[in-house]
Order: sequence, then C-alpha cells, then structure tokens
Amino acid sequence: MSTKRTDALRIAVLASGRGSNLQAVIDAIEAGTVQAKIVAVISNKKEAPALERARRHGLSDLFVDPKPYAGRLDSREAYDQELLNVLRGYDVELVLLAGYMKIVTRVLVDAYSNRMMNIHPSLLPSFPGLDVQKKAIEWGCKLTGCTVHFVTEGVDEGPIILQAAVPILDDDSPEALAARILVQEHKIYPRAVQLFAEGRLRVEGRRVFIEQGKPVGDAVISPS
Ligand code: GRF
Repeated sequence: MSTKRTDALRIAVLASGRGSNLQAVIDAIEAGTVQAKIVAVISNKKEAPALERARRHGLSDLFVDPKPYAGRLDSREAYDQELLNVLRGYDVELVLLAGYMKIVTRVLVDAYSNRMMNIHPSLLPSFPGLDVQKKAIEWGCKLTGCTVHFVTEGVDEGPIILQAAVPILDDDSPEALAARILVQEHKIYPRAVQLFAEGRLRVEGRRVFIEQGKPVGDAVISPS
C-alpha cells in the first residue's frame, strides 16, 4: 500500500563528475514529472561540474573533503560517517548516487537500506565496475543498456529497480555507445525516483516490484 505524500520527498545526490544524471533529475523536478526536492548535492571532488549545476539551480552544494581521512585504516567508513551526519542534517529520505566515484560502505548502506539508488551503464548483473561500454562491445554483446538499482555493499549488486536496453551497433565506439546509453539513463533515473516518491517500490529479497497503476512492462523500457 502506498500512502499519498503531501510534502516533497527529500533527496540528496552524491556525484563526483559531470552530473548529467543529476541534471536529468533536476529537470524532471522542475518540469513537475518528479515530485521531490533536492535538498543537497554533495561531492568528494571540489571541482565537480555537478556542484556547479547545483549552484546554477539554487541548490545547496557541498564539497566533503576525503583528505582528512586518508591514511586511516577506517578511512572509507569515517568519510561515510561524515556524509551520514550531513545527510541527517538535511533530513534526507532518498540518496541518489549519480556518477559517484567512491565505494560506499556499510555506514551509509545500512542507514539508507532500500533508500539509496545508483545508476549504472550496463544491464546488470552483466558488466559491473568501470569501462563497461567498452567491455560490452569487446564481449560481442548485441544489447546492453543501463540499470537503476538499490545500493548494497557489493558494488553494482543491489536489487534492480528499472532497466533500459540499448542495441550495440557493428561500428560502435565506447563513446558513441555511452552517449546512447546516457539518453536512456536520463529517462529511467527520474522515473525510478518518481516511483519511489509515490511509494510504489516494494523490495522482496533481490526483486523489486512496482505496485499499482501501470503495467509491469513499465519496469523495462525499450529504447524507442
Ligand atoms: C553515468 O554513465 C552513470 O551511469 C555512471 O557514471 C556516469 C555518470 O555520468 N554511474 P554523469 O556524471 O551523471 O553525467
């Protein structure tokens, strides 16, 4: 059962780079297709273009420096504890990883269990990790795509929320393929956020069910 919210879902976005997925979520919120509010954009990189995008839209942008924790045995956990304090300060309900180039630890995963999403440019569980467009081409795949999933401790391993398929062309380069996948990323990430905001995502073990309303086929979007 979903309960209709009267207030906007409070989101934080963690991003390390260019922030095009952040932009897609901002645009969807501004267009009214996602009922949510980005209360903070946080980066581990001071110069991340994602922070600049946040500023352009009047959103709180924060650089949380990992350097003070470097060298500690628990450096990753200690950093995540600082992030957690920040997130709690903003009453964040949903965390979006959007090109966030740090592996999150149990500190964040436990605090935001089934409330933290990631977007990945392959059809998981194929090709977790980095350089995945190149790997999909080299493997000879005919189809790849992108996946929005909840974040667990295993990298790119959490329960799958939405996926979109993208064909691999004979003369594809990793860059050309990445650009076509990105178009789909920008569709399914905001859509997953809206499903969460509507309280329509039900997690059972590894499976995420989309409750009510639209047909189940909605969970997999074809590239048309
Ligand atoms: C995207 O391809 C996303 O799937 C991956 O990192 C990239 C981030 O791009 N996790 P951007 O910073 O959102 O433009």
